Amino acid sequence: MYDNDISDVVAADKAHVWHHLTQHKPFETSDPRVIVEGKGIHVWDAKGTRYLDAVSGGVWTVNVGYGRESIADAVREQLVKLNYFAGSAGSIPGALFSEKLIEKMPGMSRVYYCNSGSEANEKAFKMVRQIAHKRYGGKKTKILFRERDYHGTTIAALSACGQPERHMQYGPLTPGFVEVPHCLEYRKQWDVENYGERAADAIEEVILREGPDTVGAICLEPVTAGGGVIVPPKGYWERVQEICKKYDVLLHIDEVVCGVGRTGTWFGYQHYGIKPDFVTMAKGVASGYAAIACCVTTEEVFNLFKDDAEDPLNYFRDISTFGGCTAGPAAALENLAIIEREGLLENTTAMGDYCLEKLEELKDKHAVVGDVRGKGLFLGAELVADRGTKEPVAEKLAQQVVGECGAQGVMIGVTNRSLPGFNNTLCLSPALIATKDNIDEIVGAMDVALTRVFG
Ligand SMILES: Cc1ncc(COP(=O)(O)O)c(C=O)c1O
Repeated sequence: MYDNDISDVVAADKAHVWHHLTQHKPFETSDPRVIVEGKGIHVWDAKGTRYLDAVSGGVWTVNVGYGRESIADAVREQLVKLNYFAGSAGSIPGALFSEKLIEKMPGMSRVYYCNSGSEANEKAFKMVRQIAHKRYGGKKTKILFRERDYHGTTIAALSACGQPERHMQYGPLTPGFVEVPHCLEYRKQWDVENYGERAADAIEEVILREGPDTVGAICLEPVTAGGGVIVPPKGYWERVQEICKKYDVLLHIDEVVCGVGRTGTWFGYQHYGIKPDFVTMAKGVASGYAAIACCVTTEEVFNLFKDDAEDPLNYFRDISTFGGCTAGPAAALENLAIIEREGLLENTTAMGDYCLEKLEELKDKHAVVGDVRGKGLFLGAELVADRGTKEPVAEKLAQQVVGECGAQGVMIGVTNRSLPGFNNTLCLSPALIATKDNIDEIVGAMDVALTRVFG
């Protein structure tokens, strides 16, 4: 589709752009990837090469696919009417989107707007701390997070990060964040039958060790994303909920990746019948058509910031400048309408099941595939050098598989710069519009790539 010469753009990029998560030395002798156009599930790079994007913009974001004119129209219409006003006031799309969103989240009630997943998580962390100071004499300030989970890039979010490669050398980190063990049964830490319950019990052990009167909240991904696409085992979430109730610990679910359809339900936690106190979301909320993130709470949490109006500190003393941009909720409203109109939750469930079946076939064929897992269109294949010992493959080899898929015109992902030695899980998160043919093309490319790299 894209065939103009944009070598001047590539030169400008090489000269001035500092790319995310990237060592730039190789660009002294090669060009960075520049993506110039997208339509549906495909993108085109600066050389005009077309790719099937099985990672929704690289980081599981573009849930409804590229080139959605109805979102662009909604955003344009809103921008020319009113592009911005600070979030201390309301806006038409902000109010309407909050109402639509809450309809999809029974039990939740209030939407706090900001503009990145990290920031949404920081809002929840601040609320937990403020509740601790107001209600618990400043004691219940600790926040638990899980090994392998990721919650963002700011210093406090990195302090709640279960992926060492993301926080190494960025210390000193923020105090008050405490790690609990991961729940990936494939790499089990306990030899028991009811693994889910056992992994959740490990949270109780940490609470008891720290002192229940010091722990205010636990922040968890419903399905761990960059830490290896980990679907918690049966029984895990029920037990987590019980533990939270027992020790008066608030439950914060980080839906930055899973939110708004990725796993086949509106939110990942809705597979498990749990009742969170905080839900944070970002990437899929407007599919990347505008920056928007939300920290959503129950009315009970909201009331804790309202019920003592005599206290000059008793409200959430926080602001996010770009939380007042109206493009975000305008895009999010249309994004949500598209998912409903086109039945994309149903498609996600059906295509996710189909893709998992196909990945199982890959596992039968290639010994290097040790485990396949996922929910909806959010899937992973963990590569191991030896199925018996489960020794991970060298990261370079996992990356080569990604490269070989790219050479066939299919972009897949691999966990990266997360867990030293364990960045070995291939990741798939195509747009929720993916068809069977798309899935066949993705898994077919992986099959060829695995053969090329491992024989
Ligand atoms: C689960 C999860 N939470 C939070 C974040 C941070 O979001 P952002 O990059 O928008 O700050 C990410 C980003 O990848 C994520 O995967």
